Amino acid sequence: MTSLRCFLILYLTSFLLLSTVIRSITTNDEEDDEDLRFLEEIEGQSVDSGRLSDSSDSDDDQLPGEKDADGEDSESGSEQDLHDLDPDTYKAPVFDEKDVVILAEGNFSDFIGNNKYVVIEFYAPWCGHSQALAPEYAAAATELKGEGVVLAKVDATEEDELAQKYDVQGFPTVYLFVDGEHKPYPAAQNKEAIVTWIKKNIGPGVFNVTTLDDAERILASQSKVVLGYLNFLVGPESDELAAASKLLDDVSVYQTVDPDIAKLFHIDPQVERPALVLVKREAEKICHFDGQFVKTAISEFVTSNKLPLVTTFNRDTAPSIFESSIKNHLLLFATLNISEKFIPVFQEAAKLFKGKLISIYVQVDNEDSGRPVAKFFGVSGDGPRILAYSGTDARKFAMDGDVTLHNIKAFAEDFLEDRLKPYYKSDPIPETNEEDVKVVVANSFDEIVLDESKDVLLQIYAPWCGHCRSLEPIYNKLAKHLEGIDSLVIAKMDGTTNEHPRARKSGFPTVLFFPAGNKSSDPIKVNTERSVVAYYKFLKKHASIPFKLKKPVSTPKDKPASDQETKPSDSKESDKSSSADMKDEL
Ligand SMILES: *[C@@H]1O[C@H](CO)[C@@H](O)[C@H](O)[C@H]1NC(C)=O
Ligand SMILES: *[C@@H]1O[C@H](CO)[C@@H](O)[C@H](O)[C@H]1NC(C)=O
Ligand SMILES: *[C@@H]1O[C@H](CO)[C@@H](O)[C@H](O)[C@H]1NC(C)=O
Ligand SMILES: *[C@@H]1O[C@H](CO)[C@@H](O)[C@H](O)[C@H]1NC(C)=O
Repeated sequence: MTSLRCFLILYLTSFLLLSTVIRSITTNDEEDDEDLRFLEEIEGQSVDSGRLSDSSDSDDDQLPGEKDADGEDSESGSEQDLHDLDPDTYKAPVFDEKDVVILAEGNFSDFIGNNKYVVIEFYAPWCGHSQALAPEYAAAATELKGEGVVLAKVDATEEDELAQKYDVQGFPTVYLFVDGEHKPYPAAQNKEAIVTWIKKNIGPGVFNVTTLDDAERILASQSKVVLGYLNFLVGPESDELAAASKLLDDVSVYQTVDPDIAKLFHIDPQVERPALVLVKREAEKICHFDGQFVKTAISEFVTSNKLPLVTTFNRDTAPSIFESSIKNHLLLFATLNISEKFIPVFQEAAKLFKGKLISIYVQVDNEDSGRPVAKFFGVSGDGPRILAYSGTDARKFAMDGDVTLHNIKAFAEDFLEDRLKPYYKSDPIPETNEEDVKVVVANSFDEIVLDESKDVLLQIYAPWCGHCRSLEPIYNKLAKHLEGIDSLVIAKMDGTTNEHPRARKSGFPTVLFFPAGNKSSDPIKVNTERSVVAYYKFLKKHASIPFKLKKPVSTPKDKPASDQETKPSDSKESDKSSSADMKDEL
């Protein structure tokens, strides 16, 4: 369990919500419901049950003993995890770590200071993904020996302060330190990828193409490549190109001054230099750069153009979607059998918004990758449906009407201009709602929770959440006690299937109080102890409309008067016993 989390958190830092999907994919042997759990736990509870700095504003889903429980989980979880790994990249953990330097608080700074290039892996021994990386990392260390770079590791479970200082949010986290400055290593997990990334970062960044043979070989062997057609191979143009290259982890960058080589890369030899092209092996093959020849413009150009016009969402493509600087997504949901009909028009639309939107096809009948995304977006059925997603604030928007170029274009324009009303997923409004605890769904939220005439206590829960389950009897009891008070509503909402902009949760359970007559203000987050008494006191204190609790006649009169009132009882037998319960707790 924990080990799954430790990997996924890598994505969460940059892209919390869609990352569920990645996690879902890595845990595809589990139920979808089960999958969601990890997202929500992560959301509320940061990484490692409190070993690291906990930046989340809630310790909601944590109880004493959680650490132990997690420790156990991680043991079994990591075993299971290893089975999930690609058998091609996973090797039995018999390996030689002799070239990996161990660092700790006491010698970290000196070591970074004394070595120009240091790669550091922050790991947790219990994390399956840390364990899987270890042999690959060790092999990379050996291969890179003598190249002026040292690979080191830090046990983040021992070195709290270092892990905090370097904002380690998941395991493994790998950084490259160059002259003390660090940058994170994107999530590739095998030796080859590690070595390529490091070489690119410590090497020249840009390579010369001087012969046509080389040029052909490069074009044949690389799925995407950048060529700069320059005036000189050294100097400012080349420097900018090299600097841009370092910002681009997964694209090789070349330079040439030879018109024939430029031509082979689809650059007009007569063009004014410096010129630059991105050549991809796919439908949209050639992208010419027409910006200013400086590193940021070049790297932005490559980043926004390196993805295909339409990316099919799956395990392989997910990282490039999440890591892109473009945070606005346009999504087509459809089953495979109808996708051929809709992808072409979607692709036409994608062309119009290249660099502004990432266009993603979600195959909803793909159990591994499509289904979890559809679930995340609350999309059911075969499709086609078009949605937009704004990654910066996690808002979703739904397109009405047929999937036509005209409609998609208008929808995407409105989306980019922020003219759309966001769409929230919701369970159906329940037909009856007679329990003491009222059931709220997104579509009944305004009516129930934002009713100005009621003080509303709302618990946002998740069906899988253990702390929610232990809160349930307490919450039910509270609602039972307060049942006769018309101005008070005790309510709950399943936060995994309902979203509302006013229901901001930080982990599960989140308990919010919406005072009557003040519904346009932010709700009060209820952080009291989880007991009937504490909630009762809270309500007594914060309710806009004062209320009196019915008490049985037998209640002693010498209790503290401030917290409760008595009233001659007309209660039934059952009320008596529950009130008695409450008296015990009070
Ligand atoms: C750094 O300190 C740790 C813990 O004291 C030790 O195990 C490790 O060998 C040291 N590393 C170096 C490079 O001195
Ligand atoms: C590319 O060629 C220039 C000029 O000959 C040379 O200075 C530079 O080192 C070469 N770059 C690489 C990576 O070989
Ligand atoms: C496509 O496949 C889905 C299930 O995967 C099925 O429900 C639907 O009827 C199929 N549609 C067509 C047009 O074949
Ligand atoms: C409304 O709620 C806000 C925030 O809880 C609070 O600061 C404010 O005083 C309340 N206003 C009234 C009229 O109760």
